[in-house]
Amino acid sequence: MCGLVGYIGDREATPILLNGLKRLEYRGYDSAGIAVLQNGNIDVLKRAGKVNDLETLSALHPFASTVGIGHTRWATHGEPNDQNAHPHVDHTGTIALIHNGIIENYSAIRRRLERDGIEFKTDTDTESLVQLISTFYDITGNLEQSVRLALKEVDGTYGIAVISSREPGKLIAARMGSPLVLGINDGEYFVASDASAIVHHTRQVIFLEDGNIATLTRDGYEVKTIGDEAVEHKIEQITFDIEQIEKGGYDHFMLKEIHEQPQTIMDSMRGRILKDKGTAKLGGLRDVVSALEGARRIIITACGTSWHAGLVGEYMLEQYARIPVEVEYASEFRYRSPVLTENDVVIAISQSGETADTLAAIREAKLRGATVLGICNVVGSSIARETHAGVYTHAGPEIGVASTKAFTSQLVVLSLLTLMLGRTRGFISLDEGRKFADELLSIPDKVREILEKADEIRELARQIHTANNALYLGRGYNFPTALEGALKLKEISYIHAEGYPAAEMKHGPIALIDENMPVVVIAPQDRIHEKVISNIQEVRARKGKVIAIVNRDDSTIEELAQFVIEVPTTVDFLSPLLTIIPLQLLAYSIAVFRDCNVDQPRNLAKSVTVE
Ligand code: G6P
Repeated sequence: MCGLVGYIGDREATPILLNGLKRLEYRGYDSAGIAVLQNGNIDVLKRAGKVNDLETLSALHPFASTVGIGHTRWATHGEPNDQNAHPHVDHTGTIALIHNGIIENYSAIRRRLERDGIEFKTDTDTESLVQLISTFYDITGNLEQSVRLALKEVDGTYGIAVISSREPGKLIAARMGSPLVLGINDGEYFVASDASAIVHHTRQVIFLEDGNIATLTRDGYEVKTIGDEAVEHKIEQITFDIEQIEKGGYDHFMLKEIHEQPQTIMDSMRGRILKDKGTAKLGGLRDVVSALEGARRIIITACGTSWHAGLVGEYMLEQYARIPVEVEYASEFRYRSPVLTENDVVIAISQSGETADTLAAIREAKLRGATVLGICNVVGSSIARETHAGVYTHAGPEIGVASTKAFTSQLVVLSLLTLMLGRTRGFISLDEGRKFADELLSIPDKVREILEKADEIRELARQIHTANNALYLGRGYNFPTALEGALKLKEISYIHAEGYPAAEMKHGPIALIDENMPVVVIAPQDRIHEKVISNIQEVRARKGKVIAIVNRDDSTIEELAQFVIEVPTTVDFLSPLLTIIPLQLLAYSIAVFRDCNVDQPRNLAKSVTVE
């Protein structure tokens, strides 16, 4: 996730900015940059790569400045290269801006400004904002007012910091959906995306609220709303240490990432749902729409958790877009001489975009003439570059080795693809499409509701954490959820766990069931609910401990199961977005009770770049 830091005071700004950026490195990033005000000019240094590289560069270009801004970028719009790195400067070279978040209506703003003759230098959404501020600045000559006017036209999320060579004693910061904190010290002020960047200078902070804009000068600060009204704010004292700040106050990155999901799920669909038309728009697929709509077959290829997302995709796309889908482990696909034609579309799913087997599978598919698409989280990654087209999931960097928020964001993208293809191929009606769009938009709140059950789930974990084996059962859309739930548990707690289609249990795993075996059954109220109840009866008859994930008020299952976790209802194909949440929390809490290294489980790697 991008990081930002800004400084105004009487000390040399560059080392403060560079050190701040180093403290933000843990968030993950692909490029870094700083802008300072020096002799009436804006000076910018930025480049793809690490903060250390930026530091080397800055040693060759020493600045003398006491006000500046710095940024670590995690690419969302445009490749991670020198040009797209922040800060971005307007066409007059007067204003520099850094931005965390996504400007949803950036292309409309950009088109309008380009028509007025403004030349853009980057592929980013952020440049639209700095150019827009600049057009207002021409008229008002007042930076704060221009930022406010521009922000009123912007849809999306932002945490920004802005400086201008015409007002060298000022730093403006504003927030909507991306955290921002002000740091207060004697005669010097800071802004940062999280307190770890500034905590070694000051522990006195103000956490800005959404819709706040702050003006910092060497003489003080002022916080208002974007609508120019005064706001109440309180100065707080930071008492926690840097490690706690980095993890957002959570004990582990995995837990933080689980709790980020209402936000990351929203980010994956941001700007992509056309509610009135009951469909979705995936800009990255523009050039391959006809190949997709006319595909004879879709083959999804991936590894690990991404492969599980692919399995859910198979169910969705077959049911609603009526295109035959196969899902293959990339490691198998690449070596088994698959039959592929130009009428086939291959979709590679990968969080990192660097998994060696998935990369090899797409190369194989390209050689055989298929249209190859990617669903990746990391912008500019190898898979993103080597596929013909694709969609980014926008989940932000995932640090915990066991994937959580990347999985749900992959499901969102697959749902959007299903909605889009189902509508254009005529298998989803306008009314149904609108209902699906509404349901998708309600998922973040429903996830939030489930996250509130974390304590309840921890209590369950306490009761079963000494088990040696566990079984996860689900049917239909929740068969892949069962696989993913089991994978989460084995990855981080080292308990042997298996996921199975519930009905298939009687062909083997039932032999393992006794009073020591926790059996997690995913049983929302769908069209195979009755059948899942029969499977639960079979487990009970063998004294298995049933833990059921159900919809509200499911009295039948409540009577049968030892432990019940309720999740809100939704339409069938979106169900895994909800049912996986308690399973992530369960695996996490069990691993903590077993004293395991949650974020870096033994023998596992975040990105597997070898075969
Ligand atoms: C590793 C990770 C998993 C991940 C898998 C595929 O095994 O530990 O969490 O699901 O690789 O990675 P990808 O980046 O291609 O999604």
